[in-house]
Amino acid sequence: MTFAATVLTLFPGMFPGPLGVSLAGKALAEGRWSLAVRDIRDAATGRHRSVDDTPAGGGPGMVLRADVLAAAIDAASPADDPRPRWLMSPRGVPFTQAAARELAAGPGVVIIAGRFEGVDERVIAARNLREVSIGDYVLSGGEIAAMAVLDATVRLLPGVMGNAESAESESFAEDGLEYPHYTRPQIFEGVGIPEVLTSGDHAKVAAWRRAEAERLTAARRPDLLRRGPAKP
Ligand code: ADE
Repeated sequence: MTFAATVLTLFPGMFPGPLGVSLAGKALAEGRWSLAVRDIRDAATGRHRSVDDTPAGGGPGMVLRADVLAAAIDAASPADDPRPRWLMSPRGVPFTQAAARELAAGPGVVIIAGRFEGVDERVIAARNLREVSIGDYVLSGGEIAAMAVLDATVRLLPGVMGNAESAESESFAEDGLEYPHYTRPQIFEGVGIPEVLTSGDHAKVAAWRRAEAERLTAARRPDLLRRGPAKP
């Protein structure tokens, strides 16, 4: 079964963008996942085909209309679509490596990339949208967030990463940050490679990496240390 991604956006020209190159792009070309991109504006009716309107109650910005977005979703994802529907939003639940893993194990995802001040609240409940954020900052639209979600998910699909071990040991897989890496040249601008890494002693190398990973995690992300042991 191929992982099927559908993205609803007002800027379809932004896709596949970075998802069309490197690992994700190669996997896309190989048919390991599919990407359907739909223009929300195609669902707009009326003389002006407007997709947004002023917020009820007043205030700044514009709001994506419930009727237009619902029609766009219905055209792209039937009521019995088994795929989860995500609405990218800075007020959503945080996207995590665990969420990427869960998504990758399923049939795919329908992602709505919002623009404007937000979307009409009624469509979120009516179409069972899960609001998801990629971090505590505000992007000008959900497209880059959708790309981040798909990139993190697609690399976990079977056969996409050449080296399964490297997918496993990376940052967050074990609830901590990754250890530092080195390669040739032996001396770079007068700085050598830590001796233990060239010692050939695999147990010592593993211990050094564990200690370095812990040191970095404690310094940069102490919140990850408090999370406790990795979940299976
Ligand atoms: N849209 C705007 N900002 C966002 C964020 N941080 N995460 C997801 N979608 C967004």
